[in-house]
Amino acid sequence: MDKQAKVSLLQEKIAEAMKGGGEKRIESQHNKGKLTARERITLLLDEGSFEEIGMLVTHRCNDFGMENQKFLGDGVVTGYGTVNGRLIYVFSQDFTVFGGSLSETHAEKICKIMDLAIENGAPLIGLNDSGGARIQEGVVSLGGYADIFHRNVKSSGVIPQISAVMGPCAGGAVYSPAITDFILMVENTSYMFVTGPNVVKTVTHEEVTSEELGGAQTHASKSGVTHFACANEVECIENIKQLISYIPQNCEEDAPVYDYEPADEKRTKLNDIVPENPNMPYDIKEVIQEVTDEDSFLEVHKNYAENIVVGFARVGGRSIGIVANQPASLAGVLDIESSRKGARFVRFCDAFNVPLLVLVDVPGFLPGTDQEWHGIITNGAKLLYALSEATVSKITVITRKAYGGAYDVMNSKHIGADMNYAWPTAEIAVMGAKGAAEIIFKKEIASAEDSAAKHKEKEDEYTHKFANPYGAAARGYIDEVILPEDTRAKLIKAYKMLENKVEQRPQRKHGNIPL
Ligand code: HXC
Repeated sequence: MDKQAKVSLLQEKIAEAMKGGGEKRIESQHNKGKLTARERITLLLDEGSFEEIGMLVTHRCNDFGMENQKFLGDGVVTGYGTVNGRLIYVFSQDFTVFGGSLSETHAEKICKIMDLAIENGAPLIGLNDSGGARIQEGVVSLGGYADIFHRNVKSSGVIPQISAVMGPCAGGAVYSPAITDFILMVENTSYMFVTGPNVVKTVTHEEVTSEELGGAQTHASKSGVTHFACANEVECIENIKQLISYIPQNCEEDAPVYDYEPADEKRTKLNDIVPENPNMPYDIKEVIQEVTDEDSFLEVHKNYAENIVVGFARVGGRSIGIVANQPASLAGVLDIESSRKGARFVRFCDAFNVPLLVLVDVPGFLPGTDQEWHGIITNGAKLLYALSEATVSKITVITRKAYGGAYDVMNSKHIGADMNYAWPTAEIAVMGAKGAAEIIFKKEIASAEDSAAKHKEKEDEYTHKFANPYGAAARGYIDEVILPEDTRAKLIKAYKMLENKVEQRPQRKHGNIPL
């Protein structure tokens, strides 16, 4: 073979690899409203930045006639490139090749870039679109999954790992995304479940569609498995890009700081958000909007456990993670789901050096048998543990209620917050005035001529004494009572003041968060 023929052979192989499973299957992928593995990578990465690794890999299976069906790349495109100039590693499963199913070699390709990502300290992005284990290969494909899971765990807290689910994701295959930091799904074209509708019907006699069982909306609102439900694949990839703009390359770095022009940071709109009546709801996202840089808020888990709001934003150009009670949903009460949601987000921020802002308006933990029997104790403790464990800069603003154990949990001074602010509308006490009066003045109220009037009098007395921020401020639990309009300016200065914070904790293998 002469030199030109050798070059032509390479060119032919590259052209063949580019076609994946062939034109017909690509057309079928497009007809389902899905992009191909390579089209997704092109959308994700900076133009011309993709460097592919393992394009010529083929499977090693010789059973079931597989020796005659080989596709270059074996159903997954892997490599590295940049997003807004920052290095990332990516794998993108190719549904046009054996339904993107995971063979021994397919897994090896993914593991190779996972190893590079962890060794070089850059995020790993997985674009999943797969029928699961390559059925023709048996146990080697199961081994391949476990090799990936093990690397997911080793990478956890070291490099950010993001999973987009852009097609089927079933069986044990769901566990790699589940271990990663964020999952994004695409409405109507992706689903995740441990067993599909047919198995569900056999075992539990339930009739359910794939979409109902494990579609994007289900996991975004009911289970909380996915952090983002995207309308289409383009939106999904845009979300990934936005998400990584808030986070550093690895656990030893800080997130990128964006340009910010200092200006008059007074936000008078904040003065009018908390209603006169303390029992009226308001939308905490209006507060978030006002204290953060314009249009910088990216909400995570938007439709799940809406009584707590979490997400990334910037304040003065710096990334922060926000955890905020939402008075507009269940009065902002802490329950099992909101505690888990908050805790998971806090742990991500702490692992990757993203400072925290906790906005507090919480009437307490949700009472009841449902909560107790499903473990509000263990689950509520997760949020307490996560905030207490976090050593990033932690700032608290109490806008209104901070009652009972929830006061302690929501980033109180006692569990390590660096700066604690309260608005004049703050109410910091063991419990609400009505209940408190009922308990501590029970006899007095019962023996009074007009017990309703007595109750009201005692309630007012308790309100006057405790439904304000001044008892806590007198003890230094609150560093400053501030006008709402000054909150943004205070935050900008405080985060700058805290930017070199170092907090040492005792050496240990790892803590034991109540799971
Ligand atoms: C090999 C597979 C495959 C698989 C699909 N294909 N899944 N090949 N192994 N797991 C192939 C098909 O043969 C077909 O090949 C092509 O991919 C497209 O599949 P279709 O069925 O035509 O596509 P569609 O109708 O869109 O259905 C997609 C699907 C379905 C829902 C994913 O293919 C399916 O149910 N596949 C099996 C899913 C499954 O049970 N996987 C194992 C799960 S257990 P051609 O040549 O026609 O293009 C598991 C264990 C992991 O994953 C454990 C880890 C711990």
